[in-house]
Amino acid sequence: MKQNTNLFLTLVLLVSTLQFSFAQNDLITNIQGRKTISLNGTWHYIIDPYETGFYNYRYKERNEDDKEAYWNKPNEENKIDRVEHGYEAPYEIKVPGDWNSQKEVFKYYEGTVWYQREFDVPQMDATERVFLHFGAVNYEAHVYLNGKKLGMHKGGFTAFNFEIPKALLQKEGNFLVVKVDNKRYKDEIPTLNTDWWNYGGITRDVNLVITKDNFITNYGLTLNQDQDIKTALKNNKFQIDGSIKLNAVATNTTVTVEIPELKIKKNFTINGDEVRFSILAKNIHLWSPDNPKLYEVSFNFNGEKIKEKIGFRKIETSGNKILLNGTKIFLRGICIHEEVPQEQRRAYSKEDADKMFKEVKELNANMVRLAHYPHNEYMLKAADSLGIMVWSEIPVYWAIDFGNEAVLQKAKVQLEEMITRDRNKASLIIWSVGNETPVSPTRTNFMKSLITRAKELDKTRLVSAALEVAYNKEVNTIDDPLGQYTDIVSVNEYLGWYGGHPNDTQTAHWKVVYDKPLFFSETGAGAKGGYHADKETRWSEEYQEWFYEEQIKMMKKMPENYCGLSPWILRDFRSPKRNHPKYQEGWNRKGLIDDKGNKKKAFFVLQKYYKEMAENKK
Ligand code: GCU
Repeated sequence: MKQNTNLFLTLVLLVSTLQFSFAQNDLITNIQGRKTISLNGTWHYIIDPYETGFYNYRYKERNEDDKEAYWNKPNEENKIDRVEHGYEAPYEIKVPGDWNSQKEVFKYYEGTVWYQREFDVPQMDATERVFLHFGAVNYEAHVYLNGKKLGMHKGGFTAFNFEIPKALLQKEGNFLVVKVDNKRYKDEIPTLNTDWWNYGGITRDVNLVITKDNFITNYGLTLNQDQDIKTALKNNKFQIDGSIKLNAVATNTTVTVEIPELKIKKNFTINGDEVRFSILAKNIHLWSPDNPKLYEVSFNFNGEKIKEKIGFRKIETSGNKILLNGTKIFLRGICIHEEVPQEQRRAYSKEDADKMFKEVKELNANMVRLAHYPHNEYMLKAADSLGIMVWSEIPVYWAIDFGNEAVLQKAKVQLEEMITRDRNKASLIIWSVGNETPVSPTRTNFMKSLITRAKELDKTRLVSAALEVAYNKEVNTIDDPLGQYTDIVSVNEYLGWYGGHPNDTQTAHWKVVYDKPLFFSETGAGAKGGYHADKETRWSEEYQEWFYEEQIKMMKKMPENYCGLSPWILRDFRSPKRNHPKYQEGWNRKGLIDDKGNKKKAFFVLQKYYKEMAENKK
């Protein structure tokens, strides 16, 4: 009898644990097109470098109902009780936003911070469900509600969501706690060593997403990339390919896709949790930098209508050229970190994105390389509406632990989260699987499998990575083995900054062993804004100006496989690796705009080059 009771109790415990320890759900995309309740605002925090809230004094993970666990609401009803944690003023922090920029105590902090707030939920009908969606948390997030764990996510720059079981929700005063840990590790993505500030925290929007019992989780809608675009234009016959993923299996149910401006309203029957379809369309105005045409598309299922503005275009390579909508394009790019230097903080808002793109347009650029990690969604929305092409990248940066299978899986998770969120952005033309990774057979296999995965997830875009160069006085050779698998050959070159002097570019020659487009994914030099001297004085604005003048002279002599550049970088940015006491002080000074928002002399050199290139329709 006793054994049966134990077995029964074990089963009850197992079910209850399973019920509330939800694994991460499929990513819900287009959050702004859904029914949401924002949880942005003022939260409370506890700084916890010893992770006392997570481990007991024997450093064992605390049990779920341990009242000293920081995910549990402190109870101070009886004055005699011992309580050693709590969430209240003045320990307040803004969400979204990194913690480093909010209080001096956080500036260099790397460790755990507990975030807490309460929220009420509106009256919901029985069929509705609630998900908790985070735009990004850097780096590891453990999420708890009313003392129960919803799940854990790793990755500092990609979105994720967990369902909140209805049984767990209270009408008022839901106690939400997020453990955020931004410590760096050898076997994470990125790894220990990066040339950017390790901003920690809940760095992007947080929303409750209210859905029907079954709903569209995410979807893809792009112009078919196999059709010859010139023929399609001539015959005014286009094919749009789509896929729709439901949260749960449906039987013989209809989903309707509408593009009113194209006079399209199509019903598709779903049997299962996904449907793939094609739609023939006429009179499509293709998306391009000159005409960033977006169409209002709506996806209707189970009483919900999800709307999104989507552009249609074709991106491809032909030999050593990049073609947009069948025409050769030249990428007048600029690299961008997700940062507002004037406030030394992560960028996260629409206003931040609008300011960034105003500077990009002033530069006469038509492309941005969003380094070195997926940026917030406002950046992609701005690029879509402004007609700026985008290179988006996962932070497989420098010396990753390439021989570790678990690290490859982490990189694939971040790759899938990046692609799932942004695959409907016409402006996004290039997925990058990494930056300046040191050549070895293990590394090349690691990166090749990321490229394979990227193409499985999305065949409609180019895949690249910043490759390595074999520098030599006579000829700089690009024969990085990874170049066999990327669609374009991209390299970061700093002739005249890391080695040599700016005028060395005049005798530089380039040899690319692949018949593919060549793209300079970085080039740049440092200058302290406002520091003026003769051009041979390092760190002066004149040196940086000279560097860009010499680089452009070289660019003008490049062979026809040269298809563009994205110099490093639009704005000065924070880096703990940059410690000259006069010229750097924790800043990487390669920005064309300094940390006060002032344009340096080099900005105007590049602006002029891009104006000429735009006018020559290069
Ligand atoms: C590298 C790297 C950047 C870095 C830059 C620099 O190419 O990709 O992340 O900041 O060079 O040295 O400034």
